[in-house]
Amino acid sequence: MTDRELYERDEATGQAEQALQDLCEGARSGLTGLGSLLLYSGSAGQGKTSLLARLRQAAARERDCTVLYSRGGEQQRNVPFNIVRQLFQPVLAKRSTEGRQELLDGSNYDLAAPALGLAVPAPGAANDPQGVQDALNWVVTQLAVREGPLLLIIDDLHWADAESLA
Ligand SMILES: Nc1ncnc2c1ncn2[C@@H]1O[C@H](COP(=O)(O)OP(=O)(O)O)[C@@H](O)[C@H]1O
Ligand SMILES: [Mg+2]
Repeated sequence: MTDRELYERDEATGQAEQALQDLCEGARSGLTGLGSLLLYSGSAGQGKTSLLARLRQAAARERDCTVLYSRGGEQQRNVPFNIVRQLFQPVLAKRSTEGRQELLDGSNYDLAAPALGLAVPAPGAANDPQGVQDALNWVVTQLAVREGPLLLIIDDLHWADAESLA
């Protein structure tokens, strides 16, 4: 599918590839600023998934770019942190338990690990959604610093669970 020609999508494809190139070249020259946010909307069959597949292929050709990919699903939209887990589990699975704890360090690990599917919540742990969000932000920051440049791709965002969207 990804090699089939996409008609009338040159502008969107070009924009995405340019943003990727800017991100990777910026990182190589030591820039640590924010990257780009690209959002595609359109009815079914208009080529959104195909466009994202293109972008993943382009990112795979960039030797130092880490791609985190996730896709919303109609059946999973009520599963808390489903999107977050899909995004991060592959990159976390490559690390040892100690490596994961080191990435998240201390209280961030305790807060983020249940959301990431790495641990069950500690008995009696306080419900702290803001703390979980902050801890997940810390994971993204750490990954961007250590394994960046970082490209996060989420397909079918309209089916994302509320916790991941937050
Ligand atoms: N602009 C396009 N040019 C060529 N084929 C297209 C285009 N848009 C969609 N398609 C084809 O239509 C099908 C559905 O595309 P897809 O990327 O899954 O759409 P969406 O994710 O927007 O629902 C795929 O087989 C894809 O190759
Ligand atoms: Mg699609």
